[in-house]
Amino acid sequence: MYEQASHSLLNEILIELKPDIGNLRLRHFYTRLGANFYAIHSLFKLLYGDRADFKEQMVSLVETLATRYIERSPALRKSDLAREKDYNWFLSQKWVGMALYCDRFADDLKGLRANLSYLQELGVNLLHVMPMLDCPPDNNDGGYAVRDFFRIDPRYGTTEEVAELAATLKKRDMLLALDIVVNHTSDEHEWARLARQGDKKHQDYYFVFDDREIPDIYEETMPEIFPATAPGNFTWDEAMGKWVMTVFNTYQWDLNYRNPAVLIEMIDIILFWANRGADILRLDAVAFLWKKMGSVCQNEREAHLLLQLMKDCCQVTAPGVLFIAEAIVAPSEISKYFGEDAINAKECEIAYNATLMALLWDAVATKNAAVLSQGVKNLPSKLERATWLNYVRCHDDIGLGFDDNDIRLAGFDPGQHRRFLIDYFTGRFSGSPARGLPFGENPKTGDARISGSLASLVGLESALDNGDEAAIDAAIKTIALLHSVILAFGGIPLLYYGDAIGTLNSLEYLADPAKADDNRWMHRSTFNWSKARMRHETGTVEQRIFSALKKMIALRKEITAFADFDNRQLLAVDNPNLLVFSRSDPQNSRNRVLVIVNFNDAAQWLPVAALRAHGYFQQAGMKDLCSGERLEVVNDCVVLPSLSCYWLTD
Ligand code: GLC
Ligand code: GLC
Repeated sequence: MYEQASHSLLNEILIELKPDIGNLRLRHFYTRLGANFYAIHSLFKLLYGDRADFKEQMVSLVETLATRYIERSPALRKSDLAREKDYNWFLSQKWVGMALYCDRFADDLKGLRANLSYLQELGVNLLHVMPMLDCPPDNNDGGYAVRDFFRIDPRYGTTEEVAELAATLKKRDMLLALDIVVNHTSDEHEWARLARQGDKKHQDYYFVFDDREIPDIYEETMPEIFPATAPGNFTWDEAMGKWVMTVFNTYQWDLNYRNPAVLIEMIDIILFWANRGADILRLDAVAFLWKKMGSVCQNEREAHLLLQLMKDCCQVTAPGVLFIAEAIVAPSEISKYFGEDAINAKECEIAYNATLMALLWDAVATKNAAVLSQGVKNLPSKLERATWLNYVRCHDDIGLGFDDNDIRLAGFDPGQHRRFLIDYFTGRFSGSPARGLPFGENPKTGDARISGSLASLVGLESALDNGDEAAIDAAIKTIALLHSVILAFGGIPLLYYGDAIGTLNSLEYLADPAKADDNRWMHRSTFNWSKARMRHETGTVEQRIFSALKKMIALRKEITAFADFDNRQLLAVDNPNLLVFSRSDPQNSRNRVLVIVNFNDAAQWLPVAALRAHGYFQQAGMKDLCSGERLEVVNDCVVLPSLSCYWLTD
């Protein structure tokens, strides 16, 4: 068993007892390997125990771990030790993230390093740079079709420049998160190239079939991810004369983790980037890692075993490095990516809170928190040392991935309700100010997701076009309140570049034939620096959004009750327009904050008695930490203006 607290104690004991134990250079490696080996070996055996070359593969795995450990720099090893001691470091409220594209934000890695002050001005101290690895120029899915996992696309710079970026960030007290695309490669990756040439070894890195027999069996149960642009899950490869599994785009070949060599290669890639200074690795599309005939090929038990192995191995070589699970799946499935059977997180420490994201969009469209509150109430509990990545918008489409039952409990019909949400955000619903587009519409199932920038989805674009000041104000308030939830909820808030200055949809992608079919590019625009400069001009839209977010971010970092220790409580109140929850400091429960968000565009009243019933609102009333003002009380009711959010203390 490996467990951070006992492990750092073990280190201390070892230092006291036998300072010269083993080979000093590898001492920490051996202790960690010792602690984890039981788990690694059992998992590896579960997955690959039947193979004749099992032992050989096991040796190759351990060699990979040792080689990458020897390569790990003294500075990173020191940081590993510090994080082992302070093992809850990432649960602190002081982290605030942002995801951005290196080229779209600042051309290249040099530009990115030169523009870090923009992030720091806002208060962002965790930077997720979207994938920068070598990809084919056209068929690249925004960096998620990797041709060479060890090479940065020369348009961005070099591998050394990534290490330099990591070092610069460290000096600024910032973290670096990078992507590892674990599920598939580009069809131009060397493994695919060799497979195409008929190399059996590399054909076994993928799922390749001579005819449709097996693919057809798979298709019976596998859903389609990009039904509009890449229907089906298999692609005929002319050169190879075979069918190959391609769950995402036709040029993204799914890796075959039934082959241990694939897992070992991927662990090597993970450790390579850990050694370049990444603090956090975002593991892409983890739900898809294991394919099994007769199943949907998502969230399979073996996918979890693979992630446990990746984590256990990473803890041996680079224990300070955290994993983010990108598993955009049903609420009850997402939390399993923390590691289901363990008391402490044994897969990914962090997971995208896709449920909260989708629920927030529900609240925007319905202008009430009925489904949101239900969904939050039913969010599965997390393990210790695990935290959410809370976001409003990211580079992908918005899928309405919350539970049908939560919709029913809120009093709606799931089918009709989802239809309404799609219509609302694509502007088909009369009176909707949203300017999104449907993504991945599937006529067979009636499913659809939504593309569009945050600002355009909340109505800023239409409000500006119409010169409607009240609507502009409402859109700005909506942007602020959505962020107020992700900043206060518990977990790491992840902002999306451009949202702090109200970036609208961009149609520039339509001019690029390689992008034109994929409308996710409408919310992946080139960062507009002249628009960004407006953040310093009082009264501009940019300044109003930026300053509101900046203020909340600064405040969040000071509120210890916002650290994530399962210290959130949802408060039931008799007003469906409001989301009300409390956060309390686990060290000092008197230190608590009550969060109230009014999603409605009309003012709401909440009887003071309702708050008193929950132990809040004593004699002196409550103060809003954001404005410094006391809550207004009229006729024994708290008045919450339209689209307002409060972080309240006694
Ligand atoms: C993830 C990425 C998405 C990509 C997909 C396939 O979901 O976020 O952008 O299309 O994986 O790699
Ligand atoms: C992701 C998700 C899917 C998303 C897609 C990328 O992994 O499973 O919901 O839409 O890939 O856009």
